[in-house]
Amino acid sequence: MFRHHPPRGRRTAGFLATALVALSAGLTAAAPTAAAHADTTLGELAEAKGRYFGSATDNPELPDTRYTQILGSEFSQITVGNTMKWQYTEPSRGRFDYTAAEEIVDLAESNGQSVRGHTLVWHNQLPDWVGDVPAGELLEVMRDHITHEVDHFEGRLIHWDVVNEAFEEDGSRRQSVFQQKIGDSYIAEAFKAARAADPDVKLYYNDYNIEGIGPKSDAVYEMVKSFKARGIPIDGVGMQAHLIAGQVPASLQQNIQRFADLGVDVALTELDIRMTLPRTAAKDARQATDYGAVAEACLAVSRCVGITLWDYTDKYSWVPSVFPGEGAALPWDENFAKKPAYHAIAAALTGGSPAPRGECTATYRVTSQWQGGFTAEVTVGNGHTAPITGWTVTWTLPGGQSVSSAWNGDLTVGGQEVTVRNAAYNGTLSRSGSTTFGFQGEGTADTPADMTCTPSPATQSSGVIG
Ligand code: G3I
Repeated sequence: MFRHHPPRGRRTAGFLATALVALSAGLTAAAPTAAAHADTTLGELAEAKGRYFGSATDNPELPDTRYTQILGSEFSQITVGNTMKWQYTEPSRGRFDYTAAEEIVDLAESNGQSVRGHTLVWHNQLPDWVGDVPAGELLEVMRDHITHEVDHFEGRLIHWDVVNEAFEEDGSRRQSVFQQKIGDSYIAEAFKAARAADPDVKLYYNDYNIEGIGPKSDAVYEMVKSFKARGIPIDGVGMQAHLIAGQVPASLQQNIQRFADLGVDVALTELDIRMTLPRTAAKDARQATDYGAVAEACLAVSRCVGITLWDYTDKYSWVPSVFPGEGAALPWDENFAKKPAYHAIAAALTGGSPAPRGECTATYRVTSQWQGGFTAEVTVGNGHTAPITGWTVTWTLPGGQSVSSAWNGDLTVGGQEVTVRNAAYNGTLSRSGSTTFGFQGEGTADTPADMTCTPSPATQSSGVIG
C-alpha cells in the first residue's frame, strides 16, 4: 500500500538561528516584533523543538486564497476539522465517501504538512442510520467503519483520534449510542480495530476539559492506565484545549506530564482561547500570555508532541456560533492580522522569553469627593522585574459608578469595562519607576474590585493590586 512520509519542514536550523537573533533583539515594540517573525513560521519554530504546530481546516474555507496561503505556509501539521467524521465518510451503511477529506489531505501533502485524522467514533456528527442499528449489530458496524476509514488513509496520517469525547464532566461515561448499545468495552474495541487496520498510525483518545487535573481527566487517566495494563493499543491522549482567556488550568503541565508518565504521547489538538467580546488591548494581552503559557507547558514535557489550533483565524472560528458574545479566540484576526497571541506563541517556541517579563501594578485612591461625584488617581508602578514601554489598566465599574473623563492616560469605556492606556509621554517605566493618571467619576467612589495593569509588550505578565 502507498505509504506517504510527510516531508520535514522545508526550512530548518538556519531559520531558527535568524529568528533567535531577531527575537533576542527584544519584543519591546509591536512593529519590530512582527518583522522579527516574518521569515520564520510557527511550524518551523516548533519543528526545531521536535514538535509540530498545526491548524485545523475545513473544506468550505479552501476557496479563500488569502486563507490557504497562510494555512499552507505557516503550519507543519493539518487536522481535517469536519470531513473525516462519520456523517461525511459513511453517510449510509457500507457506502463510504472520502472525497472531501482527501481534498484536505492532498492539499496538506502538497504543502509538506503532516495530517491528524479526526475522528472515527464520536456521538456527534453521526448519520441518523447509526442510531437505528440494532444493539447486537453496532459493534460490527463500528469495527467496519473504523477498519474501512483507517485502511483508506493508511500511510497518510500521523495520528487518528479514534474515540472522541466519551466522558462527562464528572468522569462518568457519556451515554452515547455506542455506550448504550455496546457498553463500556466499545472504546477498547475501537482502538483494537484501528490498530488492526494500520499498525503504524498513532492512536489517540481525544476530549475537551481534560487539560487540567479533575474528575474528567482523572477518568481518562484511569482508562489509559487500564488500557496500558491490559495491552489495549493506545499511543496518545489529545487534550482539545478549547480554553478561556484568564482561565488556563494551573495544572496543565502537571497533567500532561502524568499522562506522559503512563507511556503515552500527549497532543494539544484543538487549541483556541476565547474571550468575551469585544476585543480590547488588555484582553489580547491576557490571551497572549495564555497562549504562551500553553505552548510552554507543552514544550516542558518531552512527550507533548505538538499543538494544533482549531483553525487559525477568527474568520473561521467555531466559537461565536456556539458561545454567543464570545470569540476572538485565535492568533490571527478575521482580517488575517497577527495578534499578540501569535508573537507570544513564537516567543515561547523559541525556548524562553526573548526579553525579561515586565510587570506593572495599579493602585487606586480617591483624591476628592462631592455629592454625586469624585476624582481619583491611579498610580501605575513597575513591578520591578524589567523596564516596560507601555501599560494598560482595566477595571469593571462598581455598581452606580461611571467615568466621564481622564487625564494623563487614554480612556475608553465600553459598557461596564474601563480601559486606560498610557499617554504618549508616560508609557515607559524603569524597573523602579511609576506614573499616575487621574479620572473624574460620577456616583459612588468605591474602589474597583478588579483593577488590573498589563504591561507592553503584550507577552508580558500582569499584576493586580486592589
Ligand atoms: O455543511 C453544512 C452546510 O451545508 C450547511 O449550510 C450549514 C448550516 O448550518 O451547516 C454545515 O454543517 C456544519 C458543519 O460544522 C460544517 O461547517 C454544521 O452545521 C456544524 O454543526 C458543524 O460544526 C462543527 C462541530 O464540530 C460539530 O459539532 C464545527 O465546524 C467543528 O469545528 C466542530 O469541531 C469540534 C471537534 O470536532 C471536536 N471538538 C470540539 C470542536 C468544536 O465544537
